[in-house]
Amino acid sequence: MHDNKRIPIVQSLASVCKERFCTLIFPLLEPIPGHTASLVFDRKVFTMAQDPKSKNITWSDGDVNHAARVQRNGHKAAILWFTGLSGSGKSTLAMAVERELFLRRCHTYILDGDNVRFGLNRDLGFSPDDRTENIRRIGEVANLMMDSGTICLTAFISPYRVDRQGSREIAKEGAFIEVFTKCSLDECERRDPKGLYKKARAGEIPQFTGISAPYEEPENAEIVVETDKFNVEECAQQVVDYLIDQKILEVNGV
Ligand code: ADX
Repeated sequence: MHDNKRIPIVQSLASVCKERFCTLIFPLLEPIPGHTASLVFDRKVFTMAQDPKSKNITWSDGDVNHAARVQRNGHKAAILWFTGLSGSGKSTLAMAVERELFLRRCHTYILDGDNVRFGLNRDLGFSPDDRTENIRRIGEVANLMMDSGTICLTAFISPYRVDRQGSREIAKEGAFIEVFTKCSLDECERRDPKGLYKKARAGEIPQFTGISAPYEEPENAEIVVETDKFNVEECAQQVVDYLIDQKILEVNGV
């Protein structure tokens, strides 16, 4: 499926391009028929081709590894990546799922879009580049948490498919579970829990997702929860049922 001939081209491009350039190149790669997989692959080449700024650094593995942590915790680790419009229920649902997992004695942690922007990502706004960097950092942090044995729940709009795919790519195979909180824009706007849609319509918030900035719906999310059709408990149960089905809440088969 991969177009190997493109690798050297992409690598040499990567060596001369800054990250920003990727967003220009990908729209060009995407429409090539039959090469959907190579889009992902090429992005990985890009990501890996971006060498760390630091030189003379060496990776070291500790004596306590991922499998040992999972064994001790009694459940597998995962990233539950909630994505959807503002007001679609990402944080609410992540909190409901976390409560249920906590009761089952799972090790959990929520990374929430608004919260993280008070600290780690306080230097980022809502331009396309800042959102991409927001999601890149969260993908890395979520992956570290996953490696620590935690079930990490992230609640970010994460509007760009390619950015979500980037976070999926750095996670261990099968550990990234995309949860699309599907809810019509009309309903999100009706809920408007923070009064932001009203402000965005009034032109007071630029680049507001769904109004003046895009949201690219997932095409192959592991879980789609229709938050405008089912209540919070039902949606949370749908997510927990998936984790049970996938044997994530048990250790066998690690
Ligand atoms: S993301 O697009 O970069 O993934 P993130 O999830 O971190 O966004 O933050 C979204 C939250 O920031 C929204 O729920 C809302 O409360 C707030 N917000 C403020 N300005 C905007 C904006 N222009 N677009 C979307 N959300 C915004």
